[in-house]
Amino acid sequence: MKTWTSLELRINGESTTVSFPTHHSLLEVLRERLHLTGTKHGCELGECGACAVLIDGRPVLSCLQLAADLEGREIETVEGLQEGNQLTDLQAGFADLGAAQCGYCTPGILLTAKALLDDNPRPDRTEIQQALAGNLCRCTGYHKIVEAVEWTLARQTDPGAQPPARSLRGDDLTGEDK
Ligand code: FES
Ligand code: FES
Repeated sequence: MKTWTSLELRINGESTTVSFPTHHSLLEVLRERLHLTGTKHGCELGECGACAVLIDGRPVLSCLQLAADLEGREIETVEGLQEGNQLTDLQAGFADLGAAQCGYCTPGILLTAKALLDDNPRPDRTEIQQALAGNLCRCTGYHKIVEAVEWTLARQTDPGAQPPARSLRGDDLTGEDK
């Protein structure tokens, strides 16, 4: 017989009461009970990072986290990044440099990068790589993802900053090659 839990969770700044089988992970509760499908279901083994969300501002793998333990904790999913119809700086940076392809890894990476920048507003390349080391991507080759975080930082520091002259596709985003 399944045991059920009903509790109030804080998700993206709002409280919601949700009932779920007590053994369910946060990933299962987000996707199956609350229909917040931005959080992706990957390996379910703690290896891919696709399911990463923030709990009290720290990246956590939601596939390994029991939802029943989270009453009163602040949970942030990729849906919480939304600011009306505006992209956040990080989302815009990823879009500018084509750092998302299929996009399956992108929610976890955006949240992990957000936690990094909230904690360390001036990370160097090594720190960005280390922060994102647990987030696997099958499409981009990672370089564009790291560049997108750097580009976001550059633009926050200097609104007149120019993007990297070439993305890995060879595109010249500055138009200097024309
Ligand atoms: Fe959680 Fe892969 S689905 S780490
Ligand atoms: Fe496809 Fe990363 S963009 S897995």
